[in-house]
Amino acid sequence: PFKKLKDGLLSGTSLEECKDAAGFHINETESTVSITVVGASGDLAKKKIFPALFALYYEGCLPEHFTICGYARSKMTDAELRNMVSRTLTCRIDKRENCDEKMEQFLKRCFYHSGQYDSEENFADLDKKLKQHEGGRVSNRLFYLSIPPNIFIDAVKCASVSASSGNGWTRVIVEKPFGRDSESSAALTRSLKQYLAEEQIFRIDHYLGKELVENLSVLRFSNLIFEPLWSRQYIRNVQFIFSEDFGTEGRGGYFDNYGIIRDIMQNHLLQILALFAMETPVSLDAEDIRNEKVKVLRSMRPLQLEDVVVGQYKSHTKGGVTYPAYTDDKTVPKGSLTPTFAAAALFIDNARWDGVPFLMKAGKALHTKGAEIRVQFRHVPGNLYNRNFGTDLDRATNELVIRVQPDEAIYLKINNKVPGLGMRLDRSNLNLHYAARYSKEIPDAYERLLLDAVEGERRLFIRSDELDAAWSLFTPLLKELEEKKIIPEYYPYGSRGPVGAHYLAARYKVRWG
Ligand code: NDP
Ligand code: BG6
Repeated sequence: PFKKLKDGLLSGTSLEECKDAAGFHINETESTVSITVVGASGDLAKKKIFPALFALYYEGCLPEHFTICGYARSKMTDAELRNMVSRTLTCRIDKRENCDEKMEQFLKRCFYHSGQYDSEENFADLDKKLKQHEGGRVSNRLFYLSIPPNIFIDAVKCASVSASSGNGWTRVIVEKPFGRDSESSAALTRSLKQYLAEEQIFRIDHYLGKELVENLSVLRFSNLIFEPLWSRQYIRNVQFIFSEDFGTEGRGGYFDNYGIIRDIMQNHLLQILALFAMETPVSLDAEDIRNEKVKVLRSMRPLQLEDVVVGQYKSHTKGGVTYPAYTDDKTVPKGSLTPTFAAAALFIDNARWDGVPFLMKAGKALHTKGAEIRVQFRHVPGNLYNRNFGTDLDRATNELVIRVQPDEAIYLKINNKVPGLGMRLDRSNLNLHYAARYSKEIPDAYERLLLDAVEGERRLFIRSDELDAAWSLFTPLLKELEEKKIIPEYYPYGSRGPVGAHYLAARYKVRWG
C-alpha cells in the first residue's frame, strides 16, 4: 500500500484519493455508489445525465464515496470523457459563482470504459474497473440505460450477469420508450424481469421529476381550499397542454416510429393526469401513491378515434425564413403519416370524475413552447353579476393554471371589481410566480430522479402495472390510426396547430386555455 500511495502521489493524484486507492481509508462497513451511464457518448447523457450528476455533487447530495463511469462502444480515454463532460457542465446553482474547482473534483470521479452492449466479457472488465474504484467497500451500483431501446435487454443481461454488485444493491434506470404498444411493452417487462426484480427497475418519466408536477400533490392535499373542489361537482374540465416551438430536428428517425401520442401523451401527460386525478393515498409511500395512480388509469375509458385529432406540421415561410415540413427531415420516410400533433378527450369513469372531459393537447413545431395544466371550474350558480352586468359566461368562470414550464407559476383566475366608483368586473390573477417568490433556481427533473434512484425512492418511477394500464388506454387507438392510415391534419410550422383541436374541444363545450 505504501508503494501505491507513493506512486499515486508522484503521478499528481491528490493525497486523499491516493489514500483511497491504496486502501488506507477502507472501512468494509462503508458503502460506495457506482453510477454507470450506459450510452455515455450519446445525446441524453451529455445533455441531461452528466450535468444532473454534477449538480447533485455540487449540492452535496451524492454519497461521500461515489464513482461515475461512462460506458459505450466509442473509443475514449478517461481524459476524453472528462473533456466531453466538462463542456456540458454549468454552474447551474449560482451562475455568478465560479465552480471550476468543484467541476475539477467531480471530473476526477468520472471514468470511461469502452465496450459492446451485448458482451458479458466487456461488462466483466467494467466490473473489474468498478471494483478498483470501490476499494473493497460495500458496492452499490446504478446503471443508467441511455441507449436506444432495441439494445436495452442485451445491456441489462450483460450488466446483471457480469457487473452487478456482489454485496450491495444493483438498480437499473430505464429510459422511455417502454415498448410501442401493450404487447411490446409487456414483452420488454418480461425480458427485464428475467434479469432484474421489479424493485431494481427504475422506469423514468422525466415529467414526474419536474418541480410543479411534484408540487401537484402538495397543492391538493395540504391546502384546504383545493381538495374539496377537486371533483365533477366543481370542475368543468381539465386540460393538459404540451407544446414545442421546434420540430423533430435531429430525432426524426426515432420519432417516426413513435409519433407524438407515444412520445408525449401516453407517458408524460397521462402520468400528470393520474397524479392530478388520484384519490388521497394512504401515505406518501411510493407503493401507496402508485396504487392510487393505477386505480385512476384503470378507471379510464380507452381512447376512441372520434375523440382524437391528429396533425402533422408542414413547411411554412415567415419573415423570409422557410421552416421545414416534418417530412423534409431526411430520416423521415416520404409520405409518413406519423402525427406530430394530437389532441384528445379522455374520461375517468369513477364517482369523482364522471362526465368531466380531461383534454390533452401535444404538438411539435407550434407557435410556443410550454407545458401546463388548466383546471376550468363550473359557473357560479345563479351568478348575480352575470345577471346584472351581462358578463360573458365563459370568461367569468374561475380557472387554475399550473404552468409546469417555462417560467413556472401557479395562478388562479378570479373575477374582481375594477377599483372606482362604478361597478365593472375584471378578470385578474392571484399569482404565484416562482421566479419572484423563490430565489433558488429550480433543479432539473433529472437531478431529482437520479437522486431518488440512488436513495431507492420509487415514488416518481413507473411501476409495471401502471405501464400496462397506460398502454391499454392507448393501444387500440394507435392500432386503429395505423391500420386505417388516418391522414393527419396538416398545420404550418409555428402555428397554433390544426383547427380540428378546437372542434374537438367545442364538442365538449370546452375552450382551450
Ligand atoms: P443516442 O441515439 O444518442 O444513443 C446513445 C448511445 O447509444 C450512442 O451514443 C451510441 O453510443 C449508442 N447507440 C446508438 N445507436 C445504437 C445502435 N443502433 N446500436 C448500438 N448502440 C447504439 O440516444 P439518446 O442519448 O438520444 O437517448 C438515449 C435513450 O434515452 C433512448 O432510449 C431515448 O429514447 C431516450 N430519451 C432521449 C431523450 C433525448 O432528449 N435525447 C429524451 C427522452 C428519452 P456508441 O456508438 O458509442 O456505443
Ligand atoms: C421527451 C420527448 O420525452 O421529452 C421529446 O421524447 C421532448 O420529444 C421532450 O422534446 C420534452 O422534454 P422537456 O423536459 O424539454 O419538456
